Amino acid sequence: MSAPERFLGFPDWAPERLLDLLALAADLKAGRATGSLRGKVVALYFQNPSLRTRASLESALFRLGAHPVALNAGAGTWDVEHRDGVVMEGLAQEHVREGAPVLARYADAIGVRAFPRLANWEEEREEPVLSAFARHATCPVFSMEGAARHPLQGLADALTLQERLGDPRGQRFVLTWAPHPKPLPMSVPNSAVEAAALLGMEVVVARPEGFGLDPQVLGWSDALARARGGSVRETTDRVEALGGARAVYAKSWGGLSWYGDWDREALVRKEHRDWTLRAADLERGRDPFFLHCLPVRRNVVVEDAVLDGPRSAVVDEAENRLWTAMALLLRLLRGGVHRDAQPPHEGPLLA
Ligand code: CP
Repeated sequence: MSAPERFLGFPDWAPERLLDLLALAADLKAGRATGSLRGKVVALYFQNPSLRTRASLESALFRLGAHPVALNAGAGTWDVEHRDGVVMEGLAQEHVREGAPVLARYADAIGVRAFPRLANWEEEREEPVLSAFARHATCPVFSMEGAARHPLQGLADALTLQERLGDPRGQRFVLTWAPHPKPLPMSVPNSAVEAAALLGMEVVVARPEGFGLDPQVLGWSDALARARGGSVRETTDRVEALGGARAVYAKSWGGLSWYGDWDREALVRKEHRDWTLRAADLERGRDPFFLHCLPVRRNVVVEDAVLDGPRSAVVDEAENRLWTAMALLLRLLRGGVHRDAQPPHEGPLLA
């Protein structure tokens, strides 16, 4: 018997399949397609808080006729241990070796949100918690944001880029690092780079010295982009990067150079407060629009004038979490899809 499907990040699925999923999301949004997952149950296990991910997935499941079972670790359900062979004397009362297969007896798929502990990047880039769920569940497992990637956000980012740019190939996408009071995970920036690369964009990551993204993620993204006429590079020259930008994504993340040594990293991060994105910065681009995954700290990451101005696409981007979540669930659970808004039924995929 083959292992159940997983979607822990873009590398798990072929690019053509991701592009097909985006096309389905666009059709669902435009009313050109409908889908059904009637009678299905999806468990949503959250180790961390959420507004968009939880609300979009619950709404998507309801619209598809399926039922979500949302569980919040430490607040109504158990903390789960994912490491093998540990003596469970800490907070966790349940091991993933039992928790995942038990949930799989009730549900047709399991979504997991597990942020990194921000301790050891070599371990965290392997998505230890999500991978443990995927190993032990007997149904598909998908990421609701892990330690290294946030693919549901990446899908919404990609759909927004397609909507705003038409054919984004060759157009410049700038991911610009931003200040923040705390070191944040690299999951969103990694997935944003992968999303723009999937669309064949010219991806430029502007960040201070020491804040480079994982070379493995950048290398994989560059190969993905080049196959579609794009490219991925990093620079410390934000002014140069913003020149010619068609889309600008501001995001903070902790410096990989000091990963785990956050007291030292904080001293460096404090020196880069001038990386807050301002409306004047966007004027350097080619009529760019602004993206951010949300939630965002106003006037720290980006100033009010950008978020409240005409270039902001952040609410449209958040809406696209719903349509892309519906498309992912339909594909992952092999739901019925009907084009041209014919009434949905439970039959095989037509697209
Ligand atoms: N962008 C995003 O994942 O939002 P939440 O953390 O609120 O789910």
